[in-house]
Amino acid sequence: MTRIRVVPIHPSLGAEIVGVDLGTPLDDPTRQLLTQALADHLALVFHGQSLTPAQYLAAASIFGPPMEQHYSQHNMPDFPLIGLIWHRNGQQPAEQWHTDHTNRECPPAATILYGVEIPSAGGGTSVANMRAAYAALPADERRRLESLTTFNGLDGHPDTRPEDAEKYGKPVEHPMIRTHPVHGSKAVYFHISKASRISGMTSEASKAYMRDLLDRMITPGTVYRHAWRKGDVLVIDNRATMHRAHGDYDRSESRVLWRVIVQGDRPRLVQGNW
Ligand SMILES: [Fe+2]
Repeated sequence: MTRIRVVPIHPSLGAEIVGVDLGTPLDDPTRQLLTQALADHLALVFHGQSLTPAQYLAAASIFGPPMEQHYSQHNMPDFPLIGLIWHRNGQQPAEQWHTDHTNRECPPAATILYGVEIPSAGGGTSVANMRAAYAALPADERRRLESLTTFNGLDGHPDTRPEDAEKYGKPVEHPMIRTHPVHGSKAVYFHISKASRISGMTSEASKAYMRDLLDRMITPGTVYRHAWRKGDVLVIDNRATMHRAHGDYDRSESRVLWRVIVQGDRPRLVQGNW
């Protein structure tokens, strides 16, 4: 058996996985090791991967069953569970902090990105540790957030196809603090543009509060910024992080990432001892 190493890459979150070729079938102990490593480190980096779409989907399913993405026009025609992140088809980098697809009852446990074409500079992806953000809040604010929920839908992006809006636009309520189903810890959980409001608050007050939380909670010490190399696979644990893209690259160069999201549990807050 190949020796696998989990090497932390940042003081707050993120680990490189050394000794795994995601293009080959992985045994159960390896899959369990990776599942636990994701829960512990919240972002996993695999360098030097060379994957076909089918191999990539098989590797992604280590972390859960791949699920449909709601901007279906960007999905790979022959492999619709892979979304293409690519500015040349009109997409804008998602530069606002967020977690993916909160408009689903069971949002993705993880978002997985594969670097296929990488610009010579810039274009990174940052991941923020929302487990650390929760722990750093004052106790009274933690208690307040534990009593609140958000109502989520699609965010009115002009690119949304009517059939996607019909399938994925129904309001879904989620707790603002969720317990990680593997790790047992709590994290702050919301998507500022998919949450139309917070329970008991107006839409305007909700947005202002979420903006204020992002400004206070996301600090340089709890953010891992991934600088892409071709062949990287980045796995992001959506249950306890937020992420954003950086649009600071030359648009005459290509930046192509393949994205897979994998089904998670319905977010819930578990009180008391885990
Ligand atoms: Fe995202």
